[in-house]
Amino acid sequence: MTVLKTEALCKTYSSKGNITYKALEDIHFEVDKGDFVGIMGPSGSGKTTLLNLLATIDRPTSGRIEINGKEPTKLNEKQLALFRRRELGFIFQDFNLLDTLSIKENIVLPLVLDGVLLAKIEESLGPCAELLGISAILDKRTYEVSGGQKQRAAIARAMIHQPSILLADELTGNLDSKAAKDVMESLKDLNEQLGATIAMVTHDPFAASYCRRIIFIKDGKFFSEIRRGTSRQLFFQQILDALSVLGGNFDDIPFARS
Ligand SMILES: Nc1ncnc2c1ncn2[C@@H]1O[C@H](COP(=O)(O)OP(=O)(O)OP(=O)(O)O)[C@@H](O)[C@H]1O
Ligand SMILES: [Mg+2]
Repeated sequence: MTVLKTEALCKTYSSKGNITYKALEDIHFEVDKGDFVGIMGPSGSGKTTLLNLLATIDRPTSGRIEINGKEPTKLNEKQLALFRRRELGFIFQDFNLLDTLSIKENIVLPLVLDGVLLAKIEESLGPCAELLGISAILDKRTYEVSGGQKQRAAIARAMIHQPSILLADELTGNLDSKAAKDVMESLKDLNEQLGATIAMVTHDPFAASYCRRIIFIKDGKFFSEIRRGTSRQLFFQQILDALSVLGGNFDDIPFARS
C-alpha cells in the first residue's frame, strides 16, 4: 500500500527583486507502508524543502502530494491542522520538547490535545516507551535526561497517535555517536516491529545505513536510489560510494564510523 506519493513536485522560492530560485524540480517519490526511506544530498540540494512540503509546513509551487489517499494542498487551514495531527509524526534535530513538562507529559500531549481518554493514553504509552527504552525516565524532566533519551522521547511523541508516516529532519544532528546509534536502533525497531513508515533527511551515512533505501537528490532533482541488502555495514559502504559520486559539500561526514 502506498502511504505517500508525490508527482512532478516543484518548489520555487522568489526573493526581493523577483529573482526566483528552483529549490526542487520534478520530484516523483513514493513511500509504501512499512518502508524506511532516507533522503540525502549535498548542502542546499533541497532536502529540507522536500521534507517541509511533505510535512505540509510549506506548499509546492506545482505538482501533487498524496498522503494516505488525501491531498493536503486541497485542505483549508483548519482541516490541514487536523490532518497534520492525525496523519503525520515529526521528529526534529533539536527535539522540541517542552521543558516545563515531564517526559511522559511531553509524549502524551498530542493525545491529550485530541481528547483521547486517559486510560487509552496509558495503554498506548506502555509498549511504546518499552520499545524505545525510556520506561524508567517517564517522570523525569527534560533537563534530567540525556540527548539520546530526549530524542527517543520525541520519537515516542511523534508516533503515539500512530500516524501514517513519521518525518524526521537530521534527527541525529545534535547527538554524539553513541546516542545516535541508540536512536537509530530504536527507529529500526519501530519500523521492523511495529511497521512504522518513516522518511528521514540526513547528512550522516551512519544514520542513513539503518534505512531500507536511500534517495539521493542534487540541485533539487532526483539523482539516484540505492536499497539495502542484508548487511548494514555493506550498505554504509554503498552510501559512502554514492555520496562520493554525488559530490558537493559533505565536509562534516564522519567517515570513520560504521
Ligand atoms: N525560504 C527560502 N527562500 C529562498 N530560498 C530558500 C529558502 N529556503 C531554502 N532556500 C534555498 O533553496 C535551496 C535548498 O534549500 P534546503 O534548505 O532545502 O537545502 P538542504 O538540502 O536542506 O541543505 P542542508 O543540507 O544545508 O540543510 C538552497 O539553495 C536554499 O538557499
Ligand atoms: Mg536542510
